[in-house]
Amino acid sequence: AGAAPVVVAIDGPAGSGKSSVSKAAASRLGYDYLDTGAAYRALAWHVLARGADTGDAADVLDATGDFDFWISTDPAAYAVRVGQADVTEAIREPRVSDVVSGVARVPAVREAVTAMFRRIMAGASRGIVVEGRDITTVVAPDAPVRILLTAAPEVRAERRSAELSGEDAAAVAAALTRRDASDSAVVDFLSAAPGVEVVDSTELDFEQTVDAVLAVVAEKAGVH
Ligand code: DC
Repeated sequence: AGAAPVVVAIDGPAGSGKSSVSKAAASRLGYDYLDTGAAYRALAWHVLARGADTGDAADVLDATGDFDFWISTDPAAYAVRVGQADVTEAIREPRVSDVVSGVARVPAVREAVTAMFRRIMAGASRGIVVEGRDITTVVAPDAPVRILLTAAPEVRAERRSAELSGEDAAAVAAALTRRDASDSAVVDFLSAAPGVEVVDSTELDFEQTVDAVLAVVAEKAGVH
């Protein structure tokens, strides 16, 4: 077997550009890519598909028993499946976004999902960019590269409403604030843990943000 894959751990709030930046960084490094939020979203989708209650910890935990999750780790071909169902698009729907925080709040669920992430990470070839909320602190605290990607709340809201063109900017901002509050009750992703490098994208465009992330990778892991 070759050397263990290099893990690049990236945490950050919704609307920080985390997913697109992580994907682009993985592509440029020739690394795999893992979107951990997709697993919580897919589980929420699965709980809904079973007609179970996403707000009930026992129902959610029960649903992990037959949660047949698959995710592509190719940054150029993102896809998510639950059993035979392609849920790549469905897990972005508001009905999932609205309940995913509650699903991610169940500690036994987080343990099961974290074990799954570690198996995926171990199976990577040269390296893997893993993004989420607790990657730098819980999933991969020993990763050689750990980054917190932030942006000012008003900038995150602006980027989100540009993505969801047509939706009311104030409503988007309110939804973002609500989800931040709900998510940060589970893991603190708004402040950097010791040893975690902060990349603030408030004043940066997309390419500059990717470059800033790659500069940290070069500095910490000597990978160019
Ligand atoms: O990044 P996202 O919006 O796709 O994340 C979906 C939800 O999953 C969000 O409410 C936070 C939660 N999450 C988490 O608790 N831990 C992670 N590592 C990733 C996401």
